[in-house]
Amino acid sequence: MRLLAAELVESREVLPGQWLQAYHAPALASGARAGQFVHVRTGDYSGFVLRRPFSLNTVDAVTGVVSLHFRTVGKGTAWFTHLRPGDTIDMLGPLGRPFEVDPRSRHLLLIAGGLGIAGVRMLVDEALRDGRQVTLLFGAATARDVYPSSLLPDEVEYVVATDDGTLGHHGFVTELVPDYEAWADQAFACGPRPMLAALARLAAGRRERLGVAKLGRKRGAGRPDPYGSTAARRKAFLQVSMEQRMGCAVGACLGCVVMGTTGQPQRVCREGPTFGADEIDWESGW
Ligand SMILES: Cc1cc2nc3c(=O)[nH]c(=O)nc-3n(C[C@H](O)[C@H](O)[C@H](O)COP(=O)(O)OP(=O)(O)OC[C@H]3O[C@@H](n4cnc5c(N)ncnc54)[C@H](O)[C@@H]3O)c2cc1C
Ligand code: FES
Repeated sequence: MRLLAAELVESREVLPGQWLQAYHAPALASGARAGQFVHVRTGDYSGFVLRRPFSLNTVDAVTGVVSLHFRTVGKGTAWFTHLRPGDTIDMLGPLGRPFEVDPRSRHLLLIAGGLGIAGVRMLVDEALRDGRQVTLLFGAATARDVYPSSLLPDEVEYVVATDDGTLGHHGFVTELVPDYEAWADQAFACGPRPMLAALARLAAGRRERLGVAKLGRKRGAGRPDPYGSTAARRKAFLQVSMEQRMGCAVGACLGCVVMGTTGQPQRVCREGPTFGADEIDWESGW
């Protein structure tokens, strides 16, 4: 984790109210992995929480450029849109635990709801670089909110669902998942909590529906990997990236917790933001 000055290289509105910003931050780019995030200081010093968390959308270790994709929802995100190339901001990161891909997984299913695309976008690049096949399912309310395919590598199979049927499948993105669950070795999702909870329910019933073996079942059979361990996550069919309001983003304030299936609160900034879907108590109000 580093605290550094990141220089804005490019800023553009890619969808109504949604911005893609590229920053030159070589020290950050060299060590970051898909699923991690940065905590960024804004010019709004009026509140207690001075920083805002954003997923690392893309990272290029060669050029040292990282990109963030965000929607303007309040004062902090609006402030970023007024930055101009050459301006520098203060970034803390990379933070949190990355997605864990099993080395044996060839077919990755990525599921994004709206801005959740920012949480899985970097995994597209990592997976293709490692020679895996990627299908990305993307859900939005309507066609004008659909992530442009021009921002994705050509090798990705990109499938869209809209709630109102104005583009792609008419309905929720979760309705597309059963068509791919036999093909996929692992799935990774980011989006609204109800979407993630629905995916977790689907994933829980997958083995019985398909009669498939669990990844890593033979080695150490009978001895489950410890809850929350890298090994357990690597074997989980579904990993999710969670978003909670954050204070410190370094594990100190407990402002970001969700309830784990062990009954222990889990800090999204430290134990997450990625989790095995079976680590989260989706019925809990946290
Ligand atoms: C790990 C992580 C990664 C994130 N990645 C992205 C990303 O890549 N792109 C993106 O657009 N947003 C992302 N978010 C959400 C983003 O941090 C908030 O939208 C941002 O902090 C809002 O700041 P603001 O000052 O503009 O809004 P505020 O004035 O603070 O709040 C305005 C509205 O946004 C909601 N909001 C504020 N913070 C969050 C939050 N953390 N999660 C959900 N809703 C929030 C509030 O409830 C309120 O309705 C991420 C959040 C987390 C925890
Ligand atoms: S935001 Fe402070 S513990 Fe996570």
